[in-house]
Amino acid sequence: MRFNPQGSQFRLREDSGRERYRVHLHRFLIEELEKRGIDVGDVDRRLLGNHIAGLVDDFISREGIAVNTGERERLIDEMLNEILGYGPLEELFRDPHISDILVNGPERVVVERHGRLEETGVRFVDESHVMRVLQRMLAPTGRRLDESSPMVDARLADGSRLNAIIAPLALDGPDISIRKARRDQLSAGELLANGAFTPEMLSFLRRSVEARMNMLVSGGTGTGKTTLLNLLGQFIDPDQRIITIEDTAELQLDHPHVVSLETRPPNAEGEGEVTARDIVRNVLRMRPDRVVVGEVRGVEVMDLLQAMNTGHDGSMSTLHANNPADALSRLEMLVGFTGYRGSESTLRQMIASALDLLVHVSRTRDGRRRVTSVQELVECRDGNYVLNELFSWDPASGGYRRPASGFLSSKLQRVEGALP
Ligand SMILES: Nc1ncnc2c1ncn2[C@@H]1O[C@H](COP(=O)(O)OP(=O)(O)OP(=O)(O)O)[C@@H](O)[C@H]1O
Ligand SMILES: [Mg+2]
Repeated sequence: MRFNPQGSQFRLREDSGRERYRVHLHRFLIEELEKRGIDVGDVDRRLLGNHIAGLVDDFISREGIAVNTGERERLIDEMLNEILGYGPLEELFRDPHISDILVNGPERVVVERHGRLEETGVRFVDESHVMRVLQRMLAPTGRRLDESSPMVDARLADGSRLNAIIAPLALDGPDISIRKARRDQLSAGELLANGAFTPEMLSFLRRSVEARMNMLVSGGTGTGKTTLLNLLGQFIDPDQRIITIEDTAELQLDHPHVVSLETRPPNAEGEGEVTARDIVRNVLRMRPDRVVVGEVRGVEVMDLLQAMNTGHDGSMSTLHANNPADALSRLEMLVGFTGYRGSESTLRQMIASALDLLVHVSRTRDGRRRVTSVQELVECRDGNYVLNELFSWDPASGGYRRPASGFLSSKLQRVEGALP
């Protein structure tokens, strides 16, 4: 059925500029699709494309807008993106060189490309346009976002991770942070080439994984914790069974025996929540050889430490922390949240016996992401941690140092040829 322009309530205003007519065209299309009862989610993209092309032509001729063939194609494409995809963000999603998309209100969209933040010319019409696109991204994930629940974490269909925070918490309009899924993980070779570590460090890390050291990767936001965990996962013996637990599944361990589990937030009625702690407890009954917790951020820390202390050697996790010392104090703080009542020194004993290796990642001054410290957590002596630093980044020289302690603890002796 063709659209009859005369029958539409829709009229283009006199003052319309280029941006404006797009907005009007968009509204017009939505109106028409609604009138026809077309649920865009159910229609094949190509069929809908044809239909929309017809509507766009009607609109163009009725409004007397002059466009050439190329512009017409672009307009149809843009409208399809608006209606089916992620609106103005669609092109950023398609650009393989962009790793992060950050929306700070309708006027400002920033991306990270090749490790650097860049402004883009991408704009939303207004806050409600941002909200429409955001709700469309969230719809298939079943996660909810509104005034009563103004923050959300979700994984999109392509594996990208999205966080959004809106009014009343966000004051300058909806704020969206998207970490795009990489189609292919950074390989060991690429990470080496990027200067993330030296060949010597890589081989030490590989042998530590093989020797089933319990490892904690710490670092600030977006410093490469998950990337490193993915890399370490590849070194696990293919015969071993790995169970991963994440809030939003992001890990892509290149390994034949991985069971990926994801926590579930409560539904709109506040029911049905499954926490990381619930899952970690269940996992211990699933005969894992190793447990990988994407990121510890709550009371599940206790269960993870217990798993590490009770035969699931070679377990790994990441933790948000600004430096290795901070990582240990944050671990203690998280254990504190579990209602732990023992003494500090007992707690430290438990942490020191659970964890073997602390690997810290940061962004160095040149903007690169690197492993900036590898330390062995030797033990807890007289209530203090004993650490043995194996590799560290020296900002002054812009290179790595190998502290020449030559000290080999009993833990490290498990790592074959631990230190070359
Ligand atoms: N050594 C590296 N060289 C270049 N790019 C890297 C490196 N490490 C990570 N990246 C890229 O940086 C981005 C952030 O990495 P990643 O997700 O691993 O960080 P994260 O610390 O886990 O972040 P978050 O705090 O959000 O969980 C990704 O796009 C990743 O591909
Ligand atoms: Mg991460």
